[in-house]
Amino acid sequence: MALFHKIGLVWSVLALLGCYSSMAVADIKLPAPQTEGGIGIFEALKKRSSTAGGDFSPAELTDAELSTLLWAAIGLNRGEKGWTSPMAMGLPPYCKIYVAGTKGVWLYDWASHSLIDVSPENIKPIIGDQAFVRRASHVLIIVSDPKGLETFPDPALKDEFAHVLTGAMTQNIYLAATSLKVGARYIHGMRLDDIKTALKLAEGEKPVCLMMLGK
Ligand SMILES: Cc1cc2nc3c(=O)[nH]c(=O)nc-3n(C[C@H](O)[C@H](O)[C@H](O)COP(=O)(O)O)c2cc1C
Repeated sequence: MALFHKIGLVWSVLALLGCYSSMAVADIKLPAPQTEGGIGIFEALKKRSSTAGGDFSPAELTDAELSTLLWAAIGLNRGEKGWTSPMAMGLPPYCKIYVAGTKGVWLYDWASHSLIDVSPENIKPIIGDQAFVRRASHVLIIVSDPKGLETFPDPALKDEFAHVLTGAMTQNIYLAATSLKVGARYIHGMRLDDIKTALKLAEGEKPVCLMMLGK
């Protein structure tokens, strides 16, 4: 049998077994976020807390919950230029949010409110210093994007602005998670080199923190 026929046969068998589809993830259009209802902001402030790492169960977040949490972090809330977190000089977001789940990794695209396919790997076990990080249904990886801050050439200022934005985003996530009764925990202890490799980060892009999400 000619070589290309053999290769074609192998791919056909893999596809039939479902192996091929499990090797690829796809972009995901998120459902519209929840923007009404829930508990009031003052009740959410009274209840906000970090879920203990060992308290995350194997239960998965729904797409609707993920949609609302990502929108709360950095979604458009006023037409095409206005976000749920404040940005220096009203610039478009200069931090990226990667979403690590059991079935792969995606990049949150705030403009289309969708998840862009990055990798089919479950990287949750290799990104946190603490073993419990893998227990979360999803782990958000917040990465500073210095290209978004070219107006500010001072590297220290770029870091400062990315950290301020990260603080706003993560507090928004905590408050939305409280309202949704979803667990959340800010994590600074990260395996930076593993994250940079897994996400194929560009020169200058720096992971700032992880945010564990789950039930
Ligand atoms: C900047 C910062 C870094 C943190 N890093 C970690 C961490 O690496 N690992 C961890 O388990 N929790 C981490 N946390 C979560 C804190 O331990 C938690 O917020 C703190 O115990 C207060 O609890 P509360 O959020 O319920 O008020 C961090 C929180 C912040 C704000």
